[in-house]
Amino acid sequence: MSVLPRNLLPDSAEVGSEGQLIIGGCDVRELAEQYGTPLFVYDEQHLRDRCREAADAFGDGVAYATKAFLCRAMARLAHEEGMHLDVASGGELAVALAADVPAERLVFHGNNKSCDELRAARRAGVGRIVVDSFDELDRLELLHREDGEVARILLRITPGVEAHTHEFVMTGQDDSKFGFGLKVGDAQRAVERSRASSGVELIGLHAHIGSQVFVAGFFEQAIEVLAPFVNASGVSELSIGGGIGVAYVEGEQAPSIAEWGEVVRRACERAGITARVSAEPGRSITAQAAVTLYRVGTIKDVPGIRRFVACDGGFVDNPRPALYGSGYETFDPARVQADRSEVVRLVGKHCESGDVLVPEAKVPPGLEVGDLIATPVTGAYGRSMGSNYNLLHRPAVVFVRDGQARLVIRRETDADLLCTDVADR
Ligand SMILES: Cc1ncc(COP(=O)(O)O)c(C=O)c1O
Repeated sequence: MSVLPRNLLPDSAEVGSEGQLIIGGCDVRELAEQYGTPLFVYDEQHLRDRCREAADAFGDGVAYATKAFLCRAMARLAHEEGMHLDVASGGELAVALAADVPAERLVFHGNNKSCDELRAARRAGVGRIVVDSFDELDRLELLHREDGEVARILLRITPGVEAHTHEFVMTGQDDSKFGFGLKVGDAQRAVERSRASSGVELIGLHAHIGSQVFVAGFFEQAIEVLAPFVNASGVSELSIGGGIGVAYVEGEQAPSIAEWGEVVRRACERAGITARVSAEPGRSITAQAAVTLYRVGTIKDVPGIRRFVACDGGFVDNPRPALYGSGYETFDPARVQADRSEVVRLVGKHCESGDVLVPEAKVPPGLEVGDLIATPVTGAYGRSMGSNYNLLHRPAVVFVRDGQARLVIRRETDADLLCTDVADR
């Protein structure tokens, strides 16, 4: 028997009287009818509980990494549940501000922030700018000469710790585009330069070792490596970044946010770090909160080889399989506890053979054209990393809670595709 494991579904998931999936008290078959497919369905209470867990584990200052999934409703929700917000571009900054999150509670990231982005962040009064390079220090000093404002900064340090995860999401190693290398002395030079600069006020240090890290021990390692430098520099804050992993497929286990927080707290205590310690979880807040609903459009059998099941989305609403080879489960949301005894290839509708969502997708027998098919754990780095390839309309997003659904991002239309196209005939 291969039934979809319960732990991969959002917290409020239940099985209805007809075997269908209910999330937040809403029948997902009805959501698909009402809002169309593909559709991202987020369990709002699950999101709120994870934000609260992070705020409890790390205290004030812990920031939600909005790159995982952002819209105004998400920004407001994270703020309401006590989190700060990490934004990594002028666009993410604009959405967070449009959601009325106080700028003081924003942390601004990026390895190549433009002068315009830095200007916007300083003008808004963001709480912290995480400086990534000497060029960025030059820019902040230039802007200071323009308007006299002093930016409150953390310096992003590359500790030289290799977290075992996909190389594209591994960021703490020496050979990285991010941050000031600890071993090569850049970190020390950046501290000295910041202290001597009238354009910035050095508040703390930051490190992010990677994403989808399953072993909390890598954070202990990073803290051990960073501790002498943090203590010697006498800064008052240390952010350990984000990165704790989540289970995506059957058999995977990941530490909870609370467990991660405890590992980090103890490691900092052992290392004698007195700076206030915070973190920036993204994936662990949103990934398991959502499922994506698709409708099956074509089924093709290649005798002796495989069955292709094509849905109405594809790698534009979830690029992770194509980018990183990430694994996902599949299930039929109309019969969520059915034995998934058939293996098919779940593909999208793009003009690319690489448009594969799940190469070996387990589904119950009898799946037909017109049925729904769903992928769980799709709340992080799916819609936010999506694109408009083939000019598909990006999907809608609904938040569900207590039997109510609210549309937080509507489906795109042809008019959205044309609104930036300004050339006349
Ligand atoms: C600087 C920084 N902080 C936080 C995060 C969030 O990581 P995660 O979603 O794995 O928790 C990232 C992700 O890339 C990041 O680059």
